Amino acid sequence: KIYPVILSGGAGTRLWPLSRAVLPKQLLPLVSDQTMLQETALRVAGWPGVQAPLIVCGNEHRFLVAEQMREIGHKPLGILLESVGRNTAPAVAAAAHFLAAQDPEAVMLVLPADHVIGDVAAFQAAVLRALPQVAQGALATFGIVPTAPETGYGYIRRGAAAGATDGLYQVASFVEKPDAETAKGFVASGDYFWNSGMFLFSAANYLRELKEFQPAMAGAVDAAFTKAYRDLDFCRLDETEFAACPSDSIDYAVMEKTRHAVVVPADIGWSDVGSWSALHDVLPADANGNVTRGDVYLDGVQNSLVRAEGRIVALIGVSDVVVVETADAVLVARKDQVQRVKQVVEHLKASD
Ligand code: GDD
Ligand code: MG
Repeated sequence: KIYPVILSGGAGTRLWPLSRAVLPKQLLPLVSDQTMLQETALRVAGWPGVQAPLIVCGNEHRFLVAEQMREIGHKPLGILLESVGRNTAPAVAAAAHFLAAQDPEAVMLVLPADHVIGDVAAFQAAVLRALPQVAQGALATFGIVPTAPETGYGYIRRGAAAGATDGLYQVASFVEKPDAETAKGFVASGDYFWNSGMFLFSAANYLRELKEFQPAMAGAVDAAFTKAYRDLDFCRLDETEFAACPSDSIDYAVMEKTRHAVVVPADIGWSDVGSWSALHDVLPADANGNVTRGDVYLDGVQNSLVRAEGRIVALIGVSDVVVVETADAVLVARKDQVQRVKQVVEHLKASD
């Protein structure tokens, strides 16, 4: 059986001022009327053999997450709560314990709560293609053909074909977040995929690899899960044990190191909506390339994303910009510089 594990613990700082600590991007309706978490759950609902999702999130978001699942009429298999964020490797490990406790054969489909997938049928086919290798112990990632030397992604060099006819490759190397020069070389070589951040592996195999490469982390999560307790509909990891867990992402902690990784090429219309310009790219634009939401007036404006939450926003004679108006903050940025929004959030945190 396949169990979706939805990771919903990120902060989404590059989508400030809409995305905030109390209401991060995965809990917002950014690309449709549904929030990104709701879209993620709906995307895999009803696939044959696929169970209700397990959601892993921070304690502070538990009621919002539960409420959003109720809104779409989906009862999750569970909502696993972290008292503090320890990044994705421990979050996935906790989910693996939760699932293995009820199904020792559980296969986990790890899904970030904040991605867009344009071609769901192709994604489902990619998951099915990976299953035979996963059943034999592989840790599968879904590889996206890179279109630019992005430094915020993991890069996968494909090795020999894995399996007879499935179109999968062994992972020759996995490099998380290379510098710009390295990323350029990777893209030019044509041998690399972007890591989509979605994974398919059995709970038991993930825990085995974690134990081999990150014994301290594996021990801490094991202890946190052993002492986990029920609270209403939630499952709470033990606060003290989990706080003592080292923090790292699944990419650095496991995927860069395991010898059992395979990559499934996945042409699925994927975007991680990591910035305002990425959001602009996935939303349908008007004839001038503009995407607007709310009460917006445009005159002589092209290729811009303008979002008004409460007030009227008017733009005249400017192009290639992002303008986001909210109750207590306004962002105006050139579209090609929106990566720097992250620094705004750091600055605000520092001056708190
Ligand atoms: N529950 C939980 N707890 N979820 C978390 C935590 C945590 O402590 N930290 C992050 N997440 C969630 C985020 O909400 C997001 O959905 C997902 O896990 C991935 O975390 P990011 O912080 O967004 O990772 P990234 O974007 O830097 O890099 C990853 O994704 C890229 C593709 O979008 C890596 O897997 C890269 O290799 C990959 O290319
Ligand atoms: Mg991300």
